[in-house]
Amino acid sequence: MRIDIVTLFPDVALAPLSDSIIQRARAAGIAEVEAHQLRDWSEDKWRRVDDTLCGGGQGMLLQPGPLFAAVEALKREGTRVILMTPQGRPFKQAVARELAACSHLLILCGHYEGVDHRVVEALVDDEISIGDYVLTNGAIAAAVVCDAVIRLLPGALGDERSSEEESFMVPDRLEAPAYTRPVEFRGMKVPDVLLSGHHSKIRAWKEEMAVERTRRNRPDLME
Ligand code: ADE
Repeated sequence: MRIDIVTLFPDVALAPLSDSIIQRARAAGIAEVEAHQLRDWSEDKWRRVDDTLCGGGQGMLLQPGPLFAAVEALKREGTRVILMTPQGRPFKQAVARELAACSHLLILCGHYEGVDHRVVEALVDDEISIGDYVLTNGAIAAAVVCDAVIRLLPGALGDERSSEEESFMVPDRLEAPAYTRPVEFRGMKVPDVLLSGHHSKIRAWKEEMAVERTRRNRPDLME
Protein backbone atom coordinates (compact mmCIF):
# COMPACT_ATOMS: atom_id res chain seq x y z
CA MET A 1 0.00 0.00 0.00
CA ARG A 2 1.08 3.57 -0.62
CA ILE A 3 0.05 6.49 1.61
CA ASP A 4 0.64 10.17 0.79
CA ILE A 5 -0.06 12.73 3.51
CA VAL A 6 -0.43 16.42 2.67
CA THR A 7 0.07 18.68 5.67
CA LEU A 8 1.68 21.85 7.01
CA PHE A 9 3.56 19.59 9.46
CA PRO A 10 5.08 16.58 7.66
CA ASP A 11 7.37 15.81 10.61
CA VAL A 12 4.41 15.57 12.99
CA ALA A 13 2.65 13.13 10.66
CA LEU A 14 5.73 10.94 10.21
CA ALA A 15 7.13 10.91 13.76
CA PRO A 16 4.76 8.23 15.13
CA LEU A 17 5.27 6.15 11.97
CA SER A 18 9.05 6.13 12.23
CA ASP A 19 9.59 3.62 15.01
CA SER A 20 8.76 0.08 16.08
CA ILE A 21 6.24 -2.05 14.16
CA ILE A 22 5.18 0.60 11.66
CA GLN A 23 8.75 1.56 10.84
CA ARG A 24 9.56 -2.13 10.26
CA ALA A 25 6.52 -2.48 7.98
CA ARG A 26 7.72 0.55 6.03
CA ALA A 27 11.27 -0.79 5.82
CA ALA A 28 9.90 -4.13 4.57
CA GLY A 29 7.99 -2.33 1.80
CA ILE A 30 4.59 -3.36 3.20
CA ALA A 31 3.59 0.30 3.39
CA GLU A 32 5.23 3.17 1.55
CA VAL A 33 4.48 6.44 3.36
CA GLU A 34 5.42 9.95 2.28
CA ALA A 35 4.43 13.26 3.90
CA HIS A 36 4.32 16.37 1.71
CA GLN A 37 4.52 20.04 2.68
CA LEU A 38 1.29 21.75 1.57
CA ARG A 39 3.17 25.05 1.19
CA ASP A 40 5.05 23.53 -1.76
CA TRP A 41 1.79 24.02 -3.70
CA SER A 42 1.23 27.60 -2.44
CA GLU A 43 0.30 30.09 -5.10
CA ASP A 44 2.13 33.11 -3.68
CA LYS A 45 5.72 34.06 -3.00
CA TRP A 46 5.22 34.05 0.78
CA ARG A 47 4.08 30.40 0.58
CA ARG A 48 0.75 31.26 2.20
CA VAL A 49 -1.97 28.62 2.08
CA ASP A 50 -4.67 30.12 4.29
CA ASP A 51 -7.06 33.07 4.35
CA THR A 52 -9.86 34.57 6.43
CA LEU A 53 -13.42 33.22 6.41
CA CYS A 54 -15.93 34.50 3.87
CA GLY A 55 -18.95 35.93 5.67
CA GLY A 56 -16.87 36.66 8.77
CA GLY A 57 -15.90 34.58 11.77
CA GLN A 58 -12.81 33.81 13.78
CA GLY A 59 -9.74 32.10 12.43
CA MET A 60 -8.28 31.08 9.11
CA LEU A 61 -9.16 28.46 6.52
CA LEU A 62 -6.95 26.50 4.13
CA GLN A 63 -7.50 27.85 0.61
CA PRO A 64 -8.62 25.54 -2.19
CA GLY A 65 -5.76 26.29 -4.64
CA PRO A 66 -2.87 24.52 -2.88
CA LEU A 67 -5.01 21.51 -1.92
CA PHE A 68 -6.37 21.12 -5.47
CA ALA A 69 -2.82 21.32 -6.85
CA ALA A 70 -1.57 18.76 -4.31
CA VAL A 71 -4.32 16.28 -5.11
CA GLU A 72 -3.85 16.76 -8.85
CA ALA A 73 -0.12 16.05 -8.44
CA LEU A 74 -0.48 13.00 -6.19
CA LYS A 75 -3.74 11.32 -7.20
CA ARG A 76 -3.62 8.28 -9.47
CA GLU A 77 -5.93 5.46 -10.52
CA GLY A 78 -7.57 3.85 -7.50
CA THR A 79 -6.61 6.59 -4.99
CA ARG A 80 -8.90 7.14 -2.02
CA VAL A 81 -8.76 10.82 -0.97
CA ILE A 82 -9.34 11.32 2.74
CA LEU A 83 -9.73 14.55 4.70
CA MET A 84 -8.94 14.48 8.42
CA THR A 85 -11.53 16.68 10.14
CA PRO A 86 -13.56 16.68 13.36
CA GLN A 87 -16.59 17.00 11.03
CA GLY A 88 -15.89 13.57 9.52
CA ARG A 89 -17.42 10.13 10.08
CA PRO A 90 -16.04 8.38 13.17
CA PHE A 91 -12.87 6.34 12.66
CA LYS A 92 -13.49 2.78 13.84
CA GLN A 93 -11.72 -0.55 13.40
CA ALA A 94 -14.17 -1.34 10.57
CA VAL A 95 -13.06 1.84 8.77
CA ALA A 96 -9.41 0.88 9.30
CA ARG A 97 -10.15 -2.49 7.69
CA GLU A 98 -11.91 -0.79 4.80
CA LEU A 99 -8.92 1.52 4.21
CA ALA A 100 -6.42 -1.35 4.55
CA ALA A 101 -8.00 -2.83 1.41
CA CYS A 102 -7.10 0.27 -0.67
CA SER A 103 -3.96 0.42 -2.79
CA HIS A 104 -3.37 4.17 -2.32
CA LEU A 105 -4.53 6.60 0.36
CA LEU A 106 -4.07 10.34 -0.09
CA ILE A 107 -4.68 11.98 3.28
CA LEU A 108 -5.30 15.72 3.50
CA CYS A 109 -4.79 17.32 6.91
CA GLY A 110 -6.81 20.31 8.01
CA HIS A 111 -5.40 23.10 10.13
CA TYR A 112 -6.78 26.32 11.63
CA GLU A 113 -10.56 26.30 11.17
CA GLY A 114 -10.43 23.61 8.48
CA VAL A 115 -10.48 23.69 4.68
CA ASP A 116 -12.51 25.54 2.04
CA HIS A 117 -15.60 23.41 1.42
CA ARG A 118 -14.98 23.21 -2.33
CA VAL A 119 -12.14 20.82 -1.45
CA VAL A 120 -14.62 18.52 0.27
CA GLU A 121 -17.15 18.75 -2.56
CA ALA A 122 -14.76 18.23 -5.45
CA LEU A 123 -11.83 16.17 -4.16
CA VAL A 124 -12.60 14.21 -1.04
CA ASP A 125 -13.98 10.64 -1.01
CA ASP A 126 -14.07 10.32 2.75
CA GLU A 127 -14.09 12.82 5.66
CA ILE A 128 -12.77 11.09 8.78
CA SER A 129 -12.70 12.13 12.45
CA ILE A 130 -10.66 10.22 15.03
CA GLY A 131 -12.92 11.32 17.89
CA ASP A 132 -15.20 13.96 19.33
CA TYR A 133 -12.52 16.48 20.25
CA VAL A 134 -10.61 19.11 18.30
CA LEU A 135 -6.87 18.73 17.73
CA THR A 136 -4.65 21.65 16.70
CA ASN A 137 -3.45 19.73 13.71
CA GLY A 138 -4.89 17.09 11.41
CA ALA A 139 -1.41 15.55 10.99
CA ILE A 140 -1.81 13.94 14.42
CA ALA A 141 -5.11 12.40 13.29
CA ALA A 142 -3.51 11.24 10.02
CA ALA A 143 -0.78 9.43 11.96
CA VAL A 144 -3.44 7.66 14.06
CA VAL A 145 -5.25 6.47 10.92
CA CYS A 146 -2.00 5.36 9.26
CA ASP A 147 -0.93 3.37 12.32
CA ALA A 148 -4.28 1.59 12.60
CA VAL A 149 -4.34 0.81 8.87
CA ILE A 150 -0.71 -0.25 8.38
CA ARG A 151 -0.73 -2.73 11.26
CA LEU A 152 -3.60 -4.55 9.50
CA LEU A 153 -1.61 -5.08 6.30
CA PRO A 154 -0.47 -8.68 5.76
CA GLY A 155 2.97 -9.21 7.31
CA ALA A 156 2.98 -5.98 9.36
CA LEU A 157 2.53 -7.78 12.68
CA GLY A 158 4.84 -10.70 13.31
CA ASP A 159 2.02 -12.93 14.50
CA GLU A 160 -0.92 -12.77 12.08
CA ARG A 161 -3.34 -13.86 14.78
CA SER A 162 -2.69 -10.93 17.05
CA SER A 163 -4.75 -8.43 15.06
CA GLU A 164 -7.61 -10.91 14.70
CA GLU A 165 -8.20 -11.64 18.37
CA GLU A 166 -8.12 -8.16 19.82
CA SER A 167 -10.86 -5.75 20.82
CA PHE A 168 -13.26 -4.56 18.12
CA MET A 169 -12.46 -7.43 15.75
CA VAL A 170 -15.02 -9.52 17.62
CA PRO A 171 -18.14 -7.41 17.10
CA ASP A 172 -18.88 -5.01 19.92
CA ARG A 173 -16.78 -6.53 22.69
CA LEU A 174 -13.67 -5.23 24.49
CA GLU A 175 -10.83 -7.61 25.34
CA ALA A 176 -10.68 -9.38 28.69
CA PRO A 177 -8.02 -8.27 31.22
CA ALA A 178 -4.62 -9.94 30.75
CA TYR A 179 -1.81 -10.85 33.16
CA THR A 180 1.84 -11.89 32.97
CA ARG A 181 4.45 -12.97 35.51
CA PRO A 182 5.08 -12.58 38.43
CA VAL A 183 2.05 -14.55 39.61
CA GLU A 184 1.98 -12.39 42.74
CA PHE A 185 2.93 -8.70 42.66
CA ARG A 186 2.61 -6.38 45.68
CA GLY A 187 -0.02 -8.65 47.16
CA MET A 188 -2.07 -8.80 43.95
CA LYS A 189 -2.49 -12.28 42.46
CA VAL A 190 -3.14 -13.44 38.92
CA PRO A 191 -6.63 -15.04 38.94
CA ASP A 192 -6.34 -18.77 39.74
CA VAL A 193 -8.31 -19.82 36.67
CA LEU A 194 -5.58 -18.45 34.35
CA LEU A 195 -3.03 -20.72 36.08
CA SER A 196 -5.33 -23.78 36.06
CA GLY A 197 -4.45 -24.99 32.56
CA HIS A 198 -8.19 -25.66 32.10
CA HIS A 199 -8.80 -24.21 28.64
CA SER A 200 -12.60 -24.24 28.57
CA LYS A 201 -12.75 -22.59 32.01
CA ILE A 202 -10.21 -19.98 30.89
CA ARG A 203 -12.29 -19.26 27.77
CA ALA A 204 -15.47 -18.87 29.85
CA TRP A 205 -13.68 -16.57 32.32
CA LYS A 206 -12.33 -14.39 29.50
CA GLU A 207 -15.80 -14.16 27.97
CA GLU A 208 -17.34 -13.13 31.29
CA MET A 209 -14.63 -10.54 31.97
CA ALA A 210 -14.93 -9.13 28.45
CA VAL A 211 -18.66 -8.59 28.94
CA GLU A 212 -18.10 -7.03 32.36
CA ARG A 213 -15.40 -4.70 31.06
CA THR A 214 -17.50 -3.68 28.07
CA ARG A 215 -20.49 -2.97 30.33
CA ARG A 216 -18.32 -0.78 32.57
CA ASN A 217 -16.23 1.11 30.00
CA ARG A 218 -18.33 1.03 26.81
CA PRO A 219 -22.01 0.49 27.63
CA ASP A 220 -22.81 2.03 24.22
CA LEU A 221 -21.38 -1.11 22.55
CA MET A 222 -23.84 -3.37 24.36
CA GLU A 223 -26.99 -1.61 23.19
N1 ADE B 1 -8.41 17.63 13.09
C1 ADE B 1 -8.65 18.24 14.26
N2 ADE B 1 -9.33 17.47 15.11
C2 ADE B 1 -9.53 16.28 14.45
C3 ADE B 1 -10.20 15.07 14.78
N3 ADE B 1 -10.79 14.89 15.97
N4 ADE B 1 -10.21 14.10 13.86
C4 ADE B 1 -9.64 14.28 12.66
N5 ADE B 1 -9.01 15.40 12.28
C5 ADE B 1 -8.96 16.40 13.17
